[in-house]
Amino acid sequence: MSTKPKDWVFTDPRLKELRQDYAAYTEEDFNVWKILFERQMPNLPKAASKAYLEGVKAVKFNADCIANFEELNGVLTKTTGWAVHVVPGLIDDDLFFGLLNNRRFPSSTWLRKMDQLDYLEEPDMFHDAFAHMPLLTNQHYVDFLENLSGIALKHINDPWAIQLLSRIYWFTIEFGLIREEGVLRIYGAGILSSAGETKFSLSDQPKHFPYDVRQILNTEYWKDHFQDKYFVIDSYEQLFNSLPVIEEVLEEMLAEKETRG
Ligand SMILES: [Fe+2]
Repeated sequence: MSTKPKDWVFTDPRLKELRQDYAAYTEEDFNVWKILFERQMPNLPKAASKAYLEGVKAVKFNADCIANFEELNGVLTKTTGWAVHVVPGLIDDDLFFGLLNNRRFPSSTWLRKMDQLDYLEEPDMFHDAFAHMPLLTNQHYVDFLENLSGIALKHINDPWAIQLLSRIYWFTIEFGLIREEGVLRIYGAGILSSAGETKFSLSDQPKHFPYDVRQILNTEYWKDHFQDKYFVIDSYEQLFNSLPVIEEVLEEMLAEKETRG
């Protein structure tokens, strides 16, 4: 068990202090945000989870203004105690989970260019902000994220454990679906920032399974094309309540690997 204080991540030399330089956004940046916003938002009232749609209102995202992290943090701090933490792009797993475990959501501040509207090598702030941040206003959702990251930190030196926990993160936070009043809706940010996958994930082409920790821990995911399986939760509380099961099944799978050698 680590004896590090929980907030070790803030003094880690790899985590440079960065801020969103709002004045530096160009006309192209504003246009990219507007095009992506106007293209995706009309699809969402019938497709996205209510918690997401309420979150968009609460954080006041709109087509004309690129998300402003200072304003956003004002809202998040008041609603769930979370905040955005600016990072340069993809960061090491321990920093990533370390920030989440301290209720800080890592986000980039750069936007894709006009000729990259549909394809990106790594997530830009349209994905990080538009797709992730509205849900940071939901308490069960953020409590799940904080504690899932706590489990990851306990196993941070075991690549197999991190790979297994990434499956949970992937099939919930990035590609999760929820059933609300009998209707399938999206809460996964990887889907919410993709017009194509928004349509695809709710269609009858992929398989939809009920949320099952053991099945997810045994399911590989795709990074380069749409998922062929999605897992459906009944509520955000269900995610939070599944944390002890995640730990239990994970320990079991790690022990199995140990015995097999
Ligand atoms: Fe993401």
